[in-house]
Amino acid sequence: MAEWDHVIYNGKLADANDCFEANIYIKDGKIAAVTEEILPGAAQEETDARGQYVLPGLMDTHVHSRDPGSTRKEDFYHSTLAAAAGGITLVFEMPNTNPPVNHVDNFHKQVRNLSQKANVDFGLWGICLGDLNIDDLFPLYETGVIGFKFFWGYAVNSKTFELVYNYNPDMEDVIPPFQDGDVYKMFREVAKTGKILAIHAENNELIQILTGEVRASGRGDYEALIEARPDLAEKTTIQTGISFAKHAGTRLHILHITSGAGVDAVRDAKERGEAITAETCPHFLFLSNEDYERVGPAMKVYPPVKYKKDQDELWEGIADGTISVVCSDHAPHTEDEKDGDLWSIPAGMCGVETMVPLMLNAVNEGKLTIQQVAALLSENPARLYDIYPRKGSFHPGTDADFTIVDLEQPFEIKKEHLHSKSKVTAFDGFKGKGAPVATIVRGQTIMKNGDIISERNGCLVKPLKAPLFEDANL
Ligand code: DOR
Ligand code: ZN
Repeated sequence: MAEWDHVIYNGKLADANDCFEANIYIKDGKIAAVTEEILPGAAQEETDARGQYVLPGLMDTHVHSRDPGSTRKEDFYHSTLAAAAGGITLVFEMPNTNPPVNHVDNFHKQVRNLSQKANVDFGLWGICLGDLNIDDLFPLYETGVIGFKFFWGYAVNSKTFELVYNYNPDMEDVIPPFQDGDVYKMFREVAKTGKILAIHAENNELIQILTGEVRASGRGDYEALIEARPDLAEKTTIQTGISFAKHAGTRLHILHITSGAGVDAVRDAKERGEAITAETCPHFLFLSNEDYERVGPAMKVYPPVKYKKDQDELWEGIADGTISVVCSDHAPHTEDEKDGDLWSIPAGMCGVETMVPLMLNAVNEGKLTIQQVAALLSENPARLYDIYPRKGSFHPGTDADFTIVDLEQPFEIKKEHLHSKSKVTAFDGFKGKGAPVATIVRGQTIMKNGDIISERNGCLVKPLKAPLFEDANL
């Protein structure tokens, strides 16, 4: 029997606060030692990370694998293969599946379903469906959801609860977007759990009026979509959310923030000391309206990618800590579904596999440091969702999850090489420098130099019960 399951030699270890050269000794899936020395004892597996950075396992907290439900678009086996290929050791699966994760029975069913397919570790979101499941929220917390998701402003199908992407009030079999009173009740209920309430922030009433106006003028260009779903729609919902959260005592998280106005609203609330956090996604950091002509309908996401000025303000939000998490909002649809006019196609694109290379390329471009990547994609989300230091750290005794990256390695994103089931991406043909070269989950190498070398070993991760309140204002 070897003394060590796996030893990673000579890497530059970069976490949010530190960067130092050391060897990592792994035993039983846990970090046994982090040291400059060579420890005695044989190793079953050895990795030489000389010249490379070793980051705490990078995570993607916002993934829609459509499983069960719309598995023609994606499934969990493929999304987690894509995750592993892209340097991600842990994903949080969104609850808008069919059936959704709306009560404890469906939570358990979903864990059984995903556990057979998981190529990386996973956490599970619970969904908020107003009065339809308000009494299920506390039991979902007790069972181990990572947080609660509320698709504010969305109508849902009354039978399957799937999102209605292009809602109008004349549609049948649809539950319209919830009224503010019902929303407040959800905030109050989630507050009892101490977990995060994560909101999609778009005001449907504004969107209805503005969409009607731009469509009546006959427009179908990309700017028309932004005018129909402007930054004002994001900002007003964030502001209402902030007021509700303060009143109800909820830990509020703003999902996929897209605009300068949204960043300002979050920054102001943080300055007042309120328990609010925000994330953004690579498509908002690396795309703007100017890219639509080249990219086409793949670029349609909700909330929509906005203007260059918004992109710049998102980067400022990252620089000053207003935005503390970057995740992909991996939301695949089939090529056929995405082929059509902007008013009728669904919103969403693949992202779990391309996020880390895009962020590493940004490091090479001087937009970020490697330590900020470790913070935004690992330590910050781990703290926010109460799984730190088990995930997101180099602490001995915690899970041996690592992403090894080579900042010198050139890459080209080619959609046909993506591991997802459907391969809709706005980044086809993107060339950059800086790529993940190994994905290691609890000591086991899942991806090495782009090849998947072990499958279906992912496990459910549950958060700590007590929130890390001192971290509430990350
Ligand atoms: O673009 C999006 N796609 N935004 C969302 O909020 C949902 C997601 C999906 O599930 O397709
Ligand atoms: Zn999403």
